[in-house]
Amino acid sequence: MCGIVGYIGKRQAAPIILDGLSKLEYRGYDSAGIAIFDGEKINVSKAVGRLRVLQEVTHGGETMPGLAGIGHTRWATHGEPSNVNAHPHTNTAGTIALVHNGIIENYIALKNRLISKGYEFKSDTDTEVVPQLIDYYYKGDPLEAISKALHRIEGAYSFGIIFKDHPGEIYAARKSSPLIAGISEEGAFIASDVPALLKYTRNIYYIGEEEIVRLAENEIHFYDSDCEELTKEPVEIKWDQDAAEKGGFDHFMIKEIYEEPRTVRDTLMPRLKNDEIFIEELGMDDEEIRAVGKIHIVACGSAYHAGVTGRYVFEGMARVPVDVDIASEFRYRNPILDETDLVIVISQSGETADTLAALRESRQRGCKVLAIVNVVGSSIAREADRVMYTWAGPEISVATTKAYSAQLIALYLLALKFASAKGTIDSTELHSYIEDLKRLPDQIELLLARQKSIQRFANRYVGAKDVFFIGRGIDYAISMEGSLKLKEISYIHSEAYAAGELKHGTISLIEEGTLVAAVATQKDLYSKTVSNIVEVKSRGAFVLAVTNEYNTDIEKVADYVIYLPETASWFTNSLAIIPLQLFGYYVSVGKGYDVDHPRNLAKSVTVE
Ligand code: F6R
Repeated sequence: MCGIVGYIGKRQAAPIILDGLSKLEYRGYDSAGIAIFDGEKINVSKAVGRLRVLQEVTHGGETMPGLAGIGHTRWATHGEPSNVNAHPHTNTAGTIALVHNGIIENYIALKNRLISKGYEFKSDTDTEVVPQLIDYYYKGDPLEAISKALHRIEGAYSFGIIFKDHPGEIYAARKSSPLIAGISEEGAFIASDVPALLKYTRNIYYIGEEEIVRLAENEIHFYDSDCEELTKEPVEIKWDQDAAEKGGFDHFMIKEIYEEPRTVRDTLMPRLKNDEIFIEELGMDDEEIRAVGKIHIVACGSAYHAGVTGRYVFEGMARVPVDVDIASEFRYRNPILDETDLVIVISQSGETADTLAALRESRQRGCKVLAIVNVVGSSIAREADRVMYTWAGPEISVATTKAYSAQLIALYLLALKFASAKGTIDSTELHSYIEDLKRLPDQIELLLARQKSIQRFANRYVGAKDVFFIGRGIDYAISMEGSLKLKEISYIHSEAYAAGELKHGTISLIEEGTLVAAVATQKDLYSKTVSNIVEVKSRGAFVLAVTNEYNTDIEKVADYVIYLPETASWFTNSLAIIPLQLFGYYVSVGKGYDVDHPRNLAKSVTVE
């Protein structure tokens, strides 16, 4: 979702900004633009489509000389993807240029006010009001004008701004949308995310809520929204640029699937010592764990699906009641929260607007919030009471894979911690579960080694119109994620159903040749799911079954079977997801789609 890069320094700005934007392509976008100060005026160039179009139009930035500028990849919210709606936007005189990530909620009121004062607007965007509003307040001091404008703006934003009258400076500000800054010998930078800056610096400043930044060639200054200067320490980024590049794989998605054994290991092993579970970040002793009345898991998309699995594991293992909510629903449904409840928010990016809002709502109501987050220093990580990081490393592909797997591990660890504190499992059971967890990375490797057969199977289904994923209990949770993986990157209509619910309506959609992926890993539900397989088979479905390696009798009813190595029933999703992710990936590849950048989707959904 919208990427921002800004640079001021000794070198030509445009090529640096275009290169930085290319590192943010994973966020998803539909148009791009840059504004460069050439010593006399601000020049703007924009293009619809991939960044390479803007690179061509500007000859890799050569046609836009200048040492300071801002750039943007836009994911349309207000107004179609077009040159006029693409950022940067300027004031009427073209003396202030601005890029924006987020949504200005009161833009209509602001726009009407500015129109009544004689301002004219060209685009359909919410963003265009901001350079005009800054212009309205501008009396020669950018900081003062930005601060006044910020006090009038409602919504979420990160901005990069340049002023013709202040050629040696770039300004930036943020509220509820990600923005970082950095400085090196080459100059000073702003960006939406770390990969854009890693080439130049590992010391990153995370801009806080409603803060303003002023950058000059060798300087960086931070201010609160009333222009009081702040001091800030940089955070050192430990991972390498390589981790954010494809490393010989065709796509980031397949690279990240192959990283899952390591991701699982990295999330798990630091929290195991002498075969006990230590989650220091939880900050709760056994007595405090026992005092938790209820758990609310809140997240979006795949992170929500991880939460659905989490509910089964927490309730089944630790006998603690769990609600799982989609964050965009939770924040507006006036949820019943008690101060003894624990809210767990889950987010790969740590920037998802709805999840962040749910976190704030829960904290306001007096609940402690634990965040399971992948991106260090992200908004959710900074605002939660406690943070449990999933050490998946940077995830670039829009469709999440390794971060989802790491989220499952974090949830298993928490559930085991709760279960042992509450005495619902004894130490023998705990140790046996820990052994199962430790085996998962190797078992995932084993499944990855069988990718050829999944690729062959996927190639047969590139023409599918509808696919249904069915399962019961934990298998239903994985069906939801399997279905999302397929539909989001292959554009094949797909739905997940609790297998027992099929005959209450959906079974009427099953016809000759419809692909049904049935997940049957739960011992106590196995025969029930097999009955559901028989039901869809008798209506003509072609059944792909995913089950444990000892359930060979399933071959009597299913057409194609993927066997999983043995693990505890609670943890089967960590294995079942691998063939389902591979299936989605290979169908998308088979259809020739842009796997890492599916249409209409963004990596980090920082708007509501
Ligand atoms: C699907 C996917 C999304 C995200 C969702 C939440 O592959 O990636 O469904 O899981 O947008 O994002 P985070 O985890 O960043 O909060």
